[in-house]
Amino acid sequence: MPEVTKRGAFVVIEGLDRSGKSTQCTLLLEQLRSAGVDVKLLKVPDRTTTIGKVIDSYLRKESELDDRAIHLLFSANRWEVASSIESSLRAGTLILCDRYAFSGLAFSSAQGLPYTWCRAPDAGLPAPDITLLLDVSPEAQAKRGGFGAERYEQTELQERVRAAFERVGDEMGGGGRWVVVDADAEQEAVARELWRHVEPLAQGTDEPLRRLWD
Ligand code: TMP
Ligand code: MG
Repeated sequence: MPEVTKRGAFVVIEGLDRSGKSTQCTLLLEQLRSAGVDVKLLKVPDRTTTIGKVIDSYLRKESELDDRAIHLLFSANRWEVASSIESSLRAGTLILCDRYAFSGLAFSSAQGLPYTWCRAPDAGLPAPDITLLLDVSPEAQAKRGGFGAERYEQTELQERVRAAFERVGDEMGGGGRWVVVDADAEQEAVARELWRHVEPLAQGTDEPLRRLWD
């Protein structure tokens, strides 16, 4: 009899800047670990790779790049980790990822690049089993101590990114793979809501691993 083993689930947390993503990823990581789950936390962009350093310098406004060039670098930065995501999932590890291709799509299309052009370079990446979008209102975003000095950290652009995320969500459809979470709520309430969605996947999944944008 062939042995039936589940693969690890692929969980992505998305959202605007100041949506509480990184805090919630840390809380979720702790909760998964204390439930005995083998979990790895990733973050894109990963600013430590050669490509990531170019992205970091661009975000910190230390260099200029064409909009399309930076979009492709963000995508390449995901391709750099694609095979390690896949092998971890197959080894039964849950992958928790702070941002993914949906940020690329939302931020670049909000900047005026054509939507279908933005989707293309990420086609074929491992697809998350669930994406949790932390939806923060402009009012709550403004209350959270303001933005830093990085590129894209400005109210008007963030509003366009929020609308772009809405389009991404509409195109991802229902089926529980794309979940919008009210990130204006208290930190603990947001954490509880995330856990409610992630707990059923914590022990792995029998679903075949899909690819973007299938
Ligand atoms: P971070 O603040 O999560 O490190 O993300 C850096 C910024 O880059 C953030 O404003 C979102 C943006 N971004 C893109 O424009 N395209 C992408 O593909 C990703 C992953 C992030
Ligand atoms: Mg940021």
